[in-house]
Amino acid sequence: MEGAGKTTLLERLARELRERGIEPVVTREPGGTPVGEALREMVLDPRRRLDPVTELLLMLAARAALVREVVRPALEAGRVVLSDRFDLSSVAYQGGGRGLSLDEIRRLNALATGGLRADLTIVLDVGVGEGLGRKGGEEDRIGGGGREFHERVAEAYRALARSEPDVVLVDASCGPDEVYESARSILRARFPETFGRAVGSL
Ligand SMILES: Nc1ncnc2c1ncn2[C@@H]1O[C@H](COP(=O)(O)OP(=O)(O)OP(=O)(O)O)[C@@H](O)[C@H]1O
Ligand SMILES: [Mg+2]
Repeated sequence: MEGAGKTTLLERLARELRERGIEPVVTREPGGTPVGEALREMVLDPRRRLDPVTELLLMLAARAALVREVVRPALEAGRVVLSDRFDLSSVAYQGGGRGLSLDEIRRLNALATGGLRADLTIVLDVGVGEGLGRKGGEEDRIGGGGREFHERVAEAYRALARSEPDVVLVDASCGPDEVYESARSILRARFPETFGRAVGSL
């Protein structure tokens, strides 16, 4: 969720993997490729007006490029990929938040990703006011969507976590160390070969 600490957590997890001798591919959405970063600027620019369908299609275009240029090649090379947002952000923001059809978004997501799904999606759950407050008032076009919009986005994420086994909710209302520990224990259980060994045994 907005301002929940995704980037902070991802940096810590990447650092931990490096300490374990695993160099992860770290990326973000929208973005992660030249065309994706250009689309990111376009969709986040607060001076721009975009209708929901256009917004969705720009996000999907960035995702399609990311999967084809970065994620798939990395996975095929045996790398671990950590992505700051992925397909479920479209379900939450353009579906829950903007009110577009969830089924349609899922179909278009499948087109964009070529059917590739994340092994695990961690949703950092924080109250809307707290998350927006952490961002320090710096508002991009989507972050500035208003409280009710972000409440619908948050609810959509919670619904995804209830209905999909590979989506887990982590309470992000606590401090960054606790969020990191919660995420690590989930990752250790799910991916013992990657996150399994206790740090003390390194
Ligand atoms: N668990 C936490 N508790 C309090 N502050 C936090 C926590 N995690 C991160 N922060 C701080 O909150 C701010 C936002 O964190 P971060 O950029 O990691 O969030 P984000 O989810 O990536 O935000 P965005 O939605 O803007 O991408 C940063 O200043 C960060 O230092
Ligand atoms: Mg971030």
